Amino acid sequence: MTSVWIMLVKKSRAILGFAAISIVAASCGTNAPQDTWQPKGPNSKIIDDLQRPVFAVAGIIGLIVAVAVIYTLIKYRDRGQPIPEQTHGKPALEITLTIIPALILAVVAVFTFGAIFKLAKTDDTEMIINVTGQQWWWEYDYPTQNEFGITQPIISSGQLVMPVGTKVLLRETSRDVIHSYWIPALNGKRDAVPGRVQTLRLEADAPGIYAGQCTEFCGLSHANMRMEAVALSKADFAKWVANQQAAYVAPAKDSLAQQGEEVFLNQCVRCHQVNGLMRADGTPAIAAPDENVWSGSAPNLTHLMSRNTFAGASFDLLSKQCRDEVWNAPSDVVGTKYLAGVTEECLNQKDLRSWLRNAPAMLPMYANATQLKATGGKYRGMPYLALTEDDISKLVAYLLTLK
Ligand code: CUA
Repeated sequence: MTSVWIMLVKKSRAILGFAAISIVAASCGTNAPQDTWQPKGPNSKIIDDLQRPVFAVAGIIGLIVAVAVIYTLIKYRDRGQPIPEQTHGKPALEITLTIIPALILAVVAVFTFGAIFKLAKTDDTEMIINVTGQQWWWEYDYPTQNEFGITQPIISSGQLVMPVGTKVLLRETSRDVIHSYWIPALNGKRDAVPGRVQTLRLEADAPGIYAGQCTEFCGLSHANMRMEAVALSKADFAKWVANQQAAYVAPAKDSLAQQGEEVFLNQCVRCHQVNGLMRADGTPAIAAPDENVWSGSAPNLTHLMSRNTFAGASFDLLSKQCRDEVWNAPSDVVGTKYLAGVTEECLNQKDLRSWLRNAPAMLPMYANATQLKATGGKYRGMPYLALTEDDISKLVAYLLTLK
């Protein structure tokens, strides 16, 4: 029996040791796009400037406590010696040990309040982007802002595109439950709450793509609710704006893409919108969001292929190799690579086709038939459409024209 215990203790020590080493090793990762210790803009720098000294002080105190505990454990462990003299209370020591932490916390509080006020500043905002969270994607809506060439509102999703060196103010809200917007390289977190508008400042120092993640549990696909902020040079941003505002280009007559446009009109426009797309009778094919989508809408797909992701940002529109080329591009060429959009050679056909074939099989959206019934048959997210492989090929050809 004793030998079993010794073995168990040895084994759990090994597991604990391995876990500790793994955690320490994981903290050394260099290719960690969501690392909170690598600020890439003035707002995240404010947080970084606060957290570094606080972590240092906390680390020193933690070390002192750990050493004291280990020393005490070893020095006074039970060797059968008589119980020492019992005493009660040491007011001088107790008061000292209360005052020191209180002082440290007071100093930390002063700097924390300073950082909070700096981050909450909005009066020097240069650009506004409305951000709406829903299960499980983010909508980006750029109101008219002539100084950036935005002469008509732009509605996009999946990737937040912004100019570098510009104080961008996100006005966040939600269409369903609480989500939380977080691009660690650019700022801290801000909840997107239904019925409220909360602001978050973003500013990037250099062109690049910065990854983020919804950080408020919001249902089955919370973990898939990614976000990406794409910072472009001002010249590249102007190009992006011009492209987003470009008029609809109908697919060539008698092409596969034109057949795809027909499928799109029959199947997709109930939820999705492509600006400028007309029905056969010449009326604009505007999505009717409250027909059958729980969230109230689905991503606007105008210029879909200018984005690198689809289904919010749950999946990549670019194949792995092409995606790596854009993401790992040095900051002076990342804009050009990004603006190239998704070409046929770079399209992640596999995931896009699977998504069109059976979206609920790719992303957890509603738990089961009972839950679907409980919502009155309203879908939360892309439903199963029973498309044929032919229709899927037509749709992919059509979607590829949405540059
Ligand atoms: Cu949205 Cu978690």
